[in-house]
Amino acid sequence: MQYAGGGAAALDADAAALLEEAQGDVEKARTSYVGYTLAYLQDSMPELYEALKTDPSRPDAHAALVEVTWDAIAAFLPVTHEAAPSGEAQRRLGAIARVANDGSGPPPSRFLDVGCGTGLLLPFAVASGVPAAAYRGVDLSSRMVEVARQAHGDGALAAAAFDDRSFADVLAEEVAAGAGAEGGRHDVVVFNGALQFFADPVATLQQAAGLLRRSPHSRLVVAHVSGAAFVERERQENPMTVLSTMPTLAELSAIAGPLGLQAGPVVTPSFLGTEPEKIEAALRDFYLVVLRWDGEHGGVDGAPPPEGGAAEGGEGEQEWGLWKPGQDDNANE
Ligand SMILES: C[S@@+](CC[C@H](N)C(=O)[O-])C[C@H]1O[C@@H](n2cnc3c(N)ncnc32)[C@H](O)[C@@H]1O
Repeated sequence: MQYAGGGAAALDADAAALLEEAQGDVEKARTSYVGYTLAYLQDSMPELYEALKTDPSRPDAHAALVEVTWDAIAAFLPVTHEAAPSGEAQRRLGAIARVANDGSGPPPSRFLDVGCGTGLLLPFAVASGVPAAAYRGVDLSSRMVEVARQAHGDGALAAAAFDDRSFADVLAEEVAAGAGAEGGRHDVVVFNGALQFFADPVATLQQAAGLLRRSPHSRLVVAHVSGAAFVERERQENPMTVLSTMPTLAELSAIAGPLGLQAGPVVTPSFLGTEPEKIEAALRDFYLVVLRWDGEHGGVDGAPPPEGGAAEGGEGEQEWGLWKPGQDDNANE
């Protein structure tokens, strides 16, 4: 397996010069990097630069802020990150990959990793049986995408695609490709450590559901290896960049039925426990939820479920058989 963002890669010349100037203080070097990028933005896109100061929640201003932030983080990864994730992180990434591709259907032909960063999930997805050529990682940060391409550009993973694109770009591509009432083209859409950068996570998942092919194997996976509690702290520390916290099970269950995401829509891996309170507590440490598409209950176009169906307008959560761990997931070790 290959891992991204490791010490094996070298700093590029600009980052190395900034680090030298900062006498080895990475935090300072990163701040200078952000400063130079913002100065460039001020020159080249003054209106957007102004919006960053006056209206940072404007979608294009927020996207620029995320891009600048993650470009700066990517620039110094060779000196801030280990070559391989820790054993526990690997275990969690493996679990995410196996929930995304549990072997219950054919291997996915389109697997979208939104906010892919360095492509950390790719080797685990491939180990779970996702063909490398089916994987596409998109990220707002061109430097993250560059790191991902360098890290996974050889051998068995080389067929994977990494694109410097936002989630909004992917939605637009899908519309241009004719997605609509007939559903989208993706078998799996994953947000791993990325959903918190969206102001309205529930609306974002609704949009993501529109990317799914109408197949019982299609699914959305929402994950964070450091859990919902970490995201809450992250949001407190960086409220301009981190716009939301991880959705609660109740929030997810409220959208799942109307979106046609499977009756028993929120199925967490069984290692998280069986009682809702215990699951919610476990999600604070490791967040992993899957929402499966279910054509029988409305599909991804938001049509209401059939008369007398199990899920009516977000009510009757218990009737839907919420939280049925172990139904058919195989995320257990
Ligand atoms: C915390 S990193 C997670 C990276 C990766 N998924 C992982 O687990 O290592 C979040 C990434 O999401 C990206 N991102 C945030 N908002 C995005 C958007 N709207 N479209 C695409 N990427 C986005 C950021 O640029 C950043 O690289």
